[in-house]
Order: sequence, then C-alpha cells, then structure tokens
Amino acid sequence: MRHVTAAVLLKDGKCLIAKRRTGDALENLWEFPGGKIEDGETPQECLQREIREELQIEVTVGDFLTESIYDYGRGVIRLMAYIVTWQNGNLRLTVHDGLAWVDRNTITGYPFAPADIPIAAKVRDLLSAGES
Ligand code: C5P
Repeated sequence: MRHVTAAVLLKDGKCLIAKRRTGDALENLWEFPGGKIEDGETPQECLQREIREELQIEVTVGDFLTESIYDYGRGVIRLMAYIVTWQNGNLRLTVHDGLAWVDRNTITGYPFAPADIPIAAKVRDLLSAGES
C-alpha cells in the first residue's frame, strides 16, 4: 500500500482544490494537493514538501481530518488528509493547471479523483459546520 498525503488548505471559509493537468494520469480531475510519502518522512514533512513543490507556499500541518483507501488497479493507495494553514509565499501552480477555492455549496460541482471523493465529502461537512 502506498501512503499519500492530501492538504485541506482552508482560508476565509473556503478550501483550495487543484485540477490535474490534461495528459497526466487522472487528467482534468480535481484533488487535494499532496503526494507520496517518501522513506523516512512523516506525513507532516511530506505535506510541507509537496505543497512547497506544487503550490510554492509554506504551510504548517494541523489536525488529521480523514483518510481514503482506494485501489487504482496498479496498487492500493492510502490517502491521508490533514488540515493545513498557509504561512507565507505567493501561490503559484507548478504541476496542476487550475485551482479553485470552494465552499460547501460549490465543492459538489467539481469532478474529483476517485480517492479524493470521500475526502471532499468530509471537507464539505467541515465547511458546513463552520457556518452554523
Ligand atoms: O503526487 P504523487 O505522484 O506523489 O501521488 C501519488 C499517487 O497518489 C498518484 O497516483 C496520485 O494519482 C494519487 N493521489 C490522489 N489524490 C491526491 C494526491 C495523490 O489520488 N490528492
């Protein structure tokens, strides 16, 4: 099983999602940015590295939110989602070709990568809870 992290980056009641590039695996589907945990890395270190690589910003990693286990056919991945907070840097995409800040209503309108679907449902609950 491959262990993969995903960032739930929240700002002003919205969450950032990113679109996988046309031509990549899972092209044009949306995901929570992150990636594979390398040997010796903690999930927190992995997320900081991946977010630095993919979004060019520095984050701190907070609470674990949820996880999703999915078999893409080439092996099972365990996708672990954490709440992250933007510390500094100007956001610039390096591997995705679109981004969106979604709220509890708009998050449902995006086609997510299969492993990210249960995480999106949990994020929607989280965003709804924040509004009551
Ligand atoms: O980015 P990286 O190649 O390290 O990701 C490892 C695997 O996890 C890829 O197969 C990718 O499709 C998957 N993934 C995912 N959802 C995410 C992040 C990665 O399904 N939010």
